[in-house]
Amino acid sequence: MQKKFTQNTFNLTTQPIYNLNMKKIQKQLSLAIAACVVIGGLESCGRAEGNFQGREYMPDMAHTVTYEGYTYGYYHNNRWGGEENYRQFYKDKIQNAKPLPGTIARGQQVYHYQDTEDERTRAMNEITQNPIKPQSDEELKAVLERGKNLYTIYCAVCHGEKGDGNGTLYNNGSGPYPNKPASYISADFIKNGDSDGRYYHAIVYGKNVMMPHADKLNHTERWEVIHYIRSLQAAANQTKYDLAAANRGKANVVATDSTATAAKPH
Ligand code: HEC
Repeated sequence: MQKKFTQNTFNLTTQPIYNLNMKKIQKQLSLAIAACVVIGGLESCGRAEGNFQGREYMPDMAHTVTYEGYTYGYYHNNRWGGEENYRQFYKDKIQNAKPLPGTIARGQQVYHYQDTEDERTRAMNEITQNPIKPQSDEELKAVLERGKNLYTIYCAVCHGEKGDGNGTLYNNGSGPYPNKPASYISADFIKNGDSDGRYYHAIVYGKNVMMPHADKLNHTERWEVIHYIRSLQAAANQTKYDLAAANRGKANVVATDSTATAAKPH
């Protein structure tokens, strides 16, 4: 009963409404065509000429001249010169927008070592000081907190919360990540007195199967992570990572002469 009623209502009402709409649409269409003819006529009258810049109707709707500075926005009205002039202007603009060779973006730091084994050794020899030198216990605490946060996000899944190379992804070889991550608390890292450059270089370029993390951590963040790794090593060694330890830097055993271990600016 209910179904029949709905069906009937539908059949009875659609037809007239449809007819009405068609008439309306026809009327609107002819109006729109008339408007186009009028606007088209006006537009052709408004062409730029001599000192007259021409007229533009609703320019913001189609031409974002000011908002999108480097997009191709040539529009023949309201412009001096022809399309060729504008193309040249655009080309110069793009050319001039390129930074000069050697430009360093604000807030970025240049790392003067290449991604080779020789350069890695050079980095380990030369980079022996963490440039972040906390001046008080509070500062050290803040640095370690930020370092811990970043380490937990970016490193701990592989290198482990304690830095033992046994993160959840590796999990003693039964995890989904098959390569054994380096253990910072192994003799290779602690007892041999490796330099900070070893860590910085590994973060920037990665090492063998470890991917680079240069795009994830900026210069300051890398050094905060290294401070935190040093504190993990101290904990494993049952020593304190206090102000003195955090400011000491690490001499590198790879260095063969005394000048190589001296801290160099980087
Ligand atoms: C996806 C896993 C993974 C992540 C994430 C990861 N690493 Fe590694 N890392 C490895 C593996 C695997 C190695 C061992 C590479 C080798 O020696 O073959 C390694 C090695 C290293 C080494 C030793 C390099 C050397 O000189 O022997 C350092 C230092 C290091 N990683 C630091 C970090 C830091 C800091 C982070 C976080 C910012 C990090 N890694 C994130 C997997 C990872």
